[in-house]
Amino acid sequence: MNPIQKVKGTDDILSDSISKWHTLEEIIRYVAKVYNFHEWRTPIMEYTELFVRSVGESTDVVNKEMYTFDTKGGKSVTLRPEGTAGVLRAYVQHKMYASEIQPTKIYYIEPMFRYEQPQLGRQRQFNQFGVEVLGDKSPFLDIEVIQLGLMVCQLVGLENLRVLINTLGDEESRSSYKSALLEYFTPHITTMCLDCQRRLHQNPLRILDCKVDANHEAMLLVPDFSNFLTSESKEYFNNVLSGLDELGINYEISPKLVRGLDYYTHTIFEVISLNEASGSQSTLFGGGRYDGLVKQLGGPEVSGVGFGMGMERILIASEAEGKTLLQKPDLDVYIMPFNSTHFSQSLVLASIIRKLGFTCEVALNENSFKSKFKMADRYGSKFVAVIGDDEVNEKYATFKDLSTKEQFKVNIEDNALAEFLDTKIGE
Ligand code: HAM
Repeated sequence: MNPIQKVKGTDDILSDSISKWHTLEEIIRYVAKVYNFHEWRTPIMEYTELFVRSVGESTDVVNKEMYTFDTKGGKSVTLRPEGTAGVLRAYVQHKMYASEIQPTKIYYIEPMFRYEQPQLGRQRQFNQFGVEVLGDKSPFLDIEVIQLGLMVCQLVGLENLRVLINTLGDEESRSSYKSALLEYFTPHITTMCLDCQRRLHQNPLRILDCKVDANHEAMLLVPDFSNFLTSESKEYFNNVLSGLDELGINYEISPKLVRGLDYYTHTIFEVISLNEASGSQSTLFGGGRYDGLVKQLGGPEVSGVGFGMGMERILIASEAEGKTLLQKPDLDVYIMPFNSTHFSQSLVLASIIRKLGFTCEVALNENSFKSKFKMADRYGSKFVAVIGDDEVNEKYATFKDLSTKEQFKVNIEDNALAEFLDTKIGE
């Protein structure tokens, strides 16, 4: 019988690579903490309508990529393809807009699900670190979240990055731009892909994001959004740009950047890795401001801004830049019973060591000492402790420091063991 394989586009993260994830998560939690963001954990599935209403009917995510199924009660639910919608649903449901602490600054580290063609940096189940700031509207909050994301990248050690930024303006700017796009693309539309034909009337902005027609001649002379921005939208964007300048954050204005989700207004941004190894999936994190979304989901008129960061992509970029986040294997003590008659005493010693807060492993096998020493090495053990007849009878253990090769006879029944471990391994 063939062994069952993992589902296409998903990944097993086993012990040899988990430490990369731990390092990245530690960095993320540290950065979120210093920026005073607090973690939220929302359900992995939501009613499908939530994503249709927020992410938008014209998007690829809703049209093609959602894992949707009916519950036994006949309700349509979807594995979350992104984090913003669930956070906003919870924000409205728990009336967080009425909280005494404003703005609400949230972060999440969660798996997301999208039915896409898997490739390097693109999976069907992937992990996102996301932040959302809800409550206040200021261009400086847009800047602050970009700065936060960049701090994560910086602590990971990524250097080859570019910040792309654009504005989608307010409702009025977008609606006049959409009319202009409708008029502009109509004569070309029959020569464009089926998705663009659908997008033309649903949301012509999406056409600018089309991968199939990216080189279509109609793309060359697309009307410039900046000509359709209201003066208020222009001012908002200029404030974001001058704030970025003041903070010394380099960016590139990218007029064709529209993002793949429908809820954005004003600032949108993507931070890409310039490293070739990141390939076509080079966007490390992307996000922007969303003005009408909370209201659309049944809450009050509250503005928000945030981003989602692909954690797999950060790890790929860090490897490509030679900044591995892997931690070396690390064990304090590897206990080697002389033979099987010493197993139970070895477990007694192990439990004392563990209670003292040190990591410990016991070789509960009859392998040769040579292979036990090899194992101690693979574990990255600092000490081995041998337990034989003399040790059991006289209640001590023979510790060997694997780097200096020094040996120590340590009594295990009084404070000597705690003192020994504290001075030799300690914090
Ligand atoms: P998004 O651009 O769809 O935005 O995704 C954010 C990030 O998730 C991407 O930049 C990428 O790094 C990662 N990502 C997306 N799809 C995949 C995939 N299939 N495999 C691996 N990584 C992937 C959002 O999700 C918005 N919710 C971001 C946001 C938050 N905007 C405002 N607040």
